[in-house]
Amino acid sequence: MITRTTSRLVARRALTPAVAATRSFSKIQPQKNAEVVAADKVPMVTYNDGVRSESIVQPLDPGIVNPPGADARKIAIPLEKSILERLTPTLKKFTLVDKVAVVTGGGRGLGYNMAQALAEVGIKGIALMDLNKENGDAAAKELAEETGIDVRFYQVDVRDYGSVTGAVKDVISHYGKIDVLINSAGIADSNIPAENYPHDMWSKLIDVNLNGAFLCAQAVGREMIAQKTGGSIIFIASMSGSIVNYPQEQSCYNASKAGVIHLTKSLAAEWAKYNVRVNAISPGYMDTALNRVPALDAQKKIWIAQTPQKRLGGVDELNNLAVYLASDASSYTTGANMIIDGGYTLW
Ligand SMILES: NC(=O)c1ccc[n+]([C@@H]2O[C@H](COP(=O)([O-])OP(=O)(O)OC[C@H]3O[C@@H](n4cnc5c(N)ncnc54)[C@H](O)[C@@H]3O)[C@@H](O)[C@H]2O)c1
Repeated sequence: MITRTTSRLVARRALTPAVAATRSFSKIQPQKNAEVVAADKVPMVTYNDGVRSESIVQPLDPGIVNPPGADARKIAIPLEKSILERLTPTLKKFTLVDKVAVVTGGGRGLGYNMAQALAEVGIKGIALMDLNKENGDAAAKELAEETGIDVRFYQVDVRDYGSVTGAVKDVISHYGKIDVLINSAGIADSNIPAENYPHDMWSKLIDVNLNGAFLCAQAVGREMIAQKTGGSIIFIASMSGSIVNYPQEQSCYNASKAGVIHLTKSLAAEWAKYNVRVNAISPGYMDTALNRVPALDAQKKIWIAQTPQKRLGGVDELNNLAVYLASDASSYTTGANMIIDGGYTLW
């Protein structure tokens, strides 16, 4: 009897590496000369009681990946003072009254959604940092208008030490301090076999996901240490830092996120003495814009089949953990890597 896990491992080995479209969080270009496998021609091998069968993955029925309402625009609602005053001590610990946060990659996606969540628990100010000016501008405007909170946008490339430190200094001079950093800026590419991985693409991804995340943590961490009030730093890593995704080959992304997870632990150990807590959130497959591309539809069917909850994560499903980690609710939590993946990593 072949167990489900065994059969999946066998199927993985049996599969010829498929090269499909390059997935990108931002602007990574598709690999030149790459062989492209159409979304409706992804081969799938399964073993059932030792009997091998091969089929072509069928395109998804719409609605499985994106459940009804998933596209709805979420509006942030600020926390009213009258409600705050009536909170129990436990709920009060989940608030961020008078705190200031920096959110990188805050122009859209998971970063923007987590910024909305911080705004809903009483935060005083939020600085969004993102490479994409158009999205960042629009996000800051929208969040400020919805909540009345002092929101700023900085166009920053997290790889650039000068612009990161310059923006962080400006945040300090405007708001007076930083209590929370959420490092969500990131890019991904996938379906690139390691033996063909172009070196420039490898370097760029590591530069954004690992080096950039460190630069931001260092620039903000220095301020948190200097201000002597501590703080909370949250890295958005990935389940790909703990497991190897299937079927897409994406060694660089996986390595970058494994680096982020261990960086989280290292900084948590070093900065505990300054009362700076450092934790990571590791999402599984989330239903963000970057995953909503037709070329990924066939792979998504495999992802969903291998996820116990049988769906992708909603774009706002990191929010409550982000609030927990940012606030005093998690005052004794540091160095943790918390996975939100609908159970994907269980199998
Ligand atoms: N969506 C998923 O399935 C998933 C799963 C696991 C982990 N993650 C991680 O979550 C984070 C956010 O992902 P998302 O789905 O919201 O993606 P997204 O593409 O919607 O958002 C990422 C943001 O980062 C910005 N960015 C990219 N490069 C930058 C740079 N050099 N400097 C500054 N900003 C930059 C982009 O402009 C974009 O606004 C990423 O770190 C990603 O690796 C996502």
